[in-house]
Parts: sequence; structure tokens; C-alpha cells
Amino acid sequence: MEKKWWHQSVVYQIYPRSFNDTNGDGIGDLQGIIEKLDYLKELGIDVIWLSPVYKSPNDDNGYDISDYEDIMDEFGTIQDMDELISEANKKGIKIVMDLVLNHTSDEHNWFIESKKSKDNPYRDYYIWRDKPNNIKSTFSGSAWEYDETTNEYYLHLFSKKQPDLNWENEKVRNKLYNMINYWIDKGVGGFRLDVIDLVGKEIDKEILGNGAKLHEYIQEMNSQTFGKHDLLTVGETWGATPEIAKLYSNQQRNEFSMIFQFEHILLDQQEGKDKWDLKPLELKDLKKVLSKWQVELTEDDGWNSLFWNNHDLPRIISRWGNDTTEENRVLSGKMLATLLHGMKGTPYIYQGEEIGMTNVRFQSLDEYRDIESLNMYDERINEGYKHEDIMSSIYCKGRDNARTPMQWDDNINGGFTSSEPWIKLNSNYQTINVKKALQDKESIFYHYKKLIQIRKDNEVIIYGDFKLLLEDNKQVFAYLRQLDNQQILVICNFYDKEVEVNISEEKVCNPKEVMISNYSDTHLDITKLILRPYEAIMYR
Ligand code: NOJ
Repeated sequence: MEKKWWHQSVVYQIYPRSFNDTNGDGIGDLQGIIEKLDYLKELGIDVIWLSPVYKSPNDDNGYDISDYEDIMDEFGTIQDMDELISEANKKGIKIVMDLVLNHTSDEHNWFIESKKSKDNPYRDYYIWRDKPNNIKSTFSGSAWEYDETTNEYYLHLFSKKQPDLNWENEKVRNKLYNMINYWIDKGVGGFRLDVIDLVGKEIDKEILGNGAKLHEYIQEMNSQTFGKHDLLTVGETWGATPEIAKLYSNQQRNEFSMIFQFEHILLDQQEGKDKWDLKPLELKDLKKVLSKWQVELTEDDGWNSLFWNNHDLPRIISRWGNDTTEENRVLSGKMLATLLHGMKGTPYIYQGEEIGMTNVRFQSLDEYRDIESLNMYDERINEGYKHEDIMSSIYCKGRDNARTPMQWDDNINGGFTSSEPWIKLNSNYQTINVKKALQDKESIFYHYKKLIQIRKDNEVIIYGDFKLLLEDNKQVFAYLRQLDNQQILVICNFYDKEVEVNISEEKVCNPKEVMISNYSDTHLDITKLILRPYEAIMYR
């Protein structure tokens, strides 16, 4: 196995719209990111994944791109972008751009042309049919939109303002590759590839993910763009199994550095139903899924990404932790961080996770902004669902949970903006904010900082083998990492009840040191360990 720089990296995801507003329009911007680079440096991350900043009418907050080589007005200019890349690079931080290659905005010039007539040179850039089939949009309803100019339907797997590109057209692929090279020339550190598993879709067979030509396309893209450079690439692939992940991330195959898999994220969804149809979470399922990925995806045939959160997902403390009291929020936030950051793979931190931000409950539907939640609400109300039930799903799973503005301090609007924010803040910003976290040495922030440092200092965390311990324990997630004669033991109590564990039965060496814990008086003796609520310990 060849060692790669991104094996040792910790990535921080920024959703620019909600990060930091410097020009007082209520929307975050690129200068706002530049202003906070020192903060990110202090945390210790070395890569930023930037959600889309390209020109966009913002039907889906930038995931609907109208010009791939220019910047959204609200965020700044291309000069600001150059400045961000160079200021970040000076601090040893690489910028990973979000590539949305499955679709564009309907306001992209290619689509404006494509719509004009059936013989327009851009017609074949998109997917047109004279009759719709049964494919559904992720954002509710049919994935086909009728267009009266040419009396045909175009495909949109997301909103109707996000028409799908036709990857079977070589010209489309080449245009996209040129655009990727434009960003590589600007000095970016890599790419996150939005819903990339969809680009091989076989429309008439109604096959969307993992189509026959998918890997052929990815290998072609690799060879014409990032494959010639030493970059981090991570593909978003919702349906991946470890076997599928190996196709993308085995370095011999020249595709990506790694993928995002979502098996651990889908554990609160009823099988065969939508993300809104909830079922209770069970620790045994999480243990099974995460340890399967740890064991089956070894560095010889792939690489894991490690994440709890992103801009599409609810906040992890509200999901697997406990946000009902301040004490439990802090304990469970540190516990979840410890569990993930002790594993093998590249960890991703989503903005606000490092200070333990939580889900939001807006009283009125009008306060929500996300097209996915709003479309789903309309669809379900029409189908006869009760308002309260739909709102409960939005409270648990809605994407706006992750998109409320970053909480910098306890001033009005949490220091995010000097005017009306594009989406309301979480009302808890006076208790949970960066300023407070930086003043308190026991905060979740410093716990993350320490975990990042531990990763840098201990090769066993990067390359050590993973072994699940206490497999049948319903309350504790424990595992061992081993590399040559180095051992790291991680033990996490997932609940607010005490639990006694006997790790010595698992034939683990007696540890010599507590590397990190969320209690100040954690014991070194592991023979009879009584774990307190959410206690999480990493031993060496
Ligand atoms: C996945 C992105 O993460 C999400 O935010 C977006 O809505 C869809 N892809 C469509 O681009």
C-alpha cells in the first residue's frame, strides 16, 4: 500500500451560506471564510471541503450551478476565491471543491440552449424524452418536467431547476473535465463529487445508481483530470457497500481516494421507505455497520471516510447523543467524537460539530428554507398525513438542522451577520457558541482539537488494524487498534446510565495511559471498569 497525504488529514466541511457573513447581507461569504482560517488552524484541520460556491440561482443552495467557472454573487468574486485558496494554502490548509456533475441549474447556458429546439447543438447535453417513465425525484414527485417549447420532457433527479446532464454525450464529459482542470490549475487540493454514483444512470431501464458505464466514466475523468495530480477525491455514493467502495477507492483502479458511504446514516429509516419514515436507533446496528466498514475496507483495497454530519444530515448530538441537558450535550458530543476519531479513515468535521451544535425546531413551516423539506411537506399534506407528524420528521431529519448559521458568539445573530440572516439561528446560540468554547478548556472544541493532534502523533490511529470488542454489549461500543507493538483501546458508553464492563476478558494488554477522556478522573485499571453516563476513553 502506498501512503498518501490524505490518509493523515482531517477535513472540515464549510457550508458557506451559513458560515460567516462579512458584508452584512445575511448570507455567509468567501471573505467570511478567510476571516476564520486562524480559527480552523487552531482546531488543527488541514483540509476544507467547501460546499458549492459557483454561480447559482440557489434553488438548492448552490447545488444548482449556472456557471462552473464563476462565483455566486452573494459569496464574492473569483478574486476572493483565489485569495481564499492562497491564504488557506499559506496556512497549510487545502481547499477541496464540491463538484456537482450530475446536473446543472436550468439557468446554465447549456440548458437555456438545450431547451430552444430539438436540433440545437446543446440538445443532447441533457436527457429529453417524449414520454415520462416512473422515475421519481429525490425532492418529491415525478423526475420528468414537461417543456412546451419542444413538447418533450427533461429529466431532473432533484428539483425541476436541476436538469440532469447526459453523461452518454462525450462532449458533456469533456466540457466537465476542462472545468475540473480549470480548478486544478487554480491550486485546489481536491474534489468532493456530488451524487457521483448517478452519472452512469440507464434511464430507459430505470436504473439510477451504479449503472453499467459508471466506473468507465470515472476512470476516464480520473485520467483526464485529477489522476495526473496528487489530490484528495471523495465521491458521494448513497447505495455503496464495502464491495462497491473497493471499486471506487482501490488505488490500482484509478478512481477516487475514498467515498462517502451512508449505511450508518440510514439506521433510523424504515426499510424500503423514505428518509422521513423513522425507526428507533439501536446501538447494535451501529456497531455492526461501522465495524464491518472498518474491517472489510482495508488500506490495500480502499479507504474509509469517517463522518457523522454534513449539510444534508441532522446534528449528531441530537441523533445519537443527548441534547436535553447541557451536561449530557457536552459528554455525548465528546463521546461521539472519540468513537469516530479513533477509527481508521479520513475524518470529516461539519461546521459547528466541533462546538456541539444541535438540531433546531422552528415553530412554523415558513421558517424552513430547504426545498427538500418544503416539497415533502406539500406532498405528504396532499396525501393526508397530519401536520404534526410531518413536522416531527422535519425536526428529526430535515436538512435545515445542519444549515442554521454558525454560532460564533452570544451577540445578536450569534455573530454570524449584522443583518437579518437568510435562515434563523438556533435559539441556543447564547449557550452554544465558538467564543464560549474557546474560553473553556473543557469544551467540545478542545476535545476535537486533542483528537486531531492524537491522530497526527500516533500512526496506529491511521494504519492500525481494527477489532471490535464486547460485541454483544448493548450499551458500550469498544474497539482495539493495533499496529506492530502499538495498541489503542477506545471504550464508549452510548447511554446516560452507568455500565460495568470487563475488557480484560478480551485479551487486551493493560493500558499504560489514558490518552483522552470526557471525565477528568478516568481510571487506568480496565479490569473492572464502571463507565459513567456517556463516558468515552481512549487508552494507550
Ligand atoms: C447531494 C448534496 O449533498 C445535496 O445537498 C444536494 O441537494 C443533492 N446532492 C443534489 O445536488
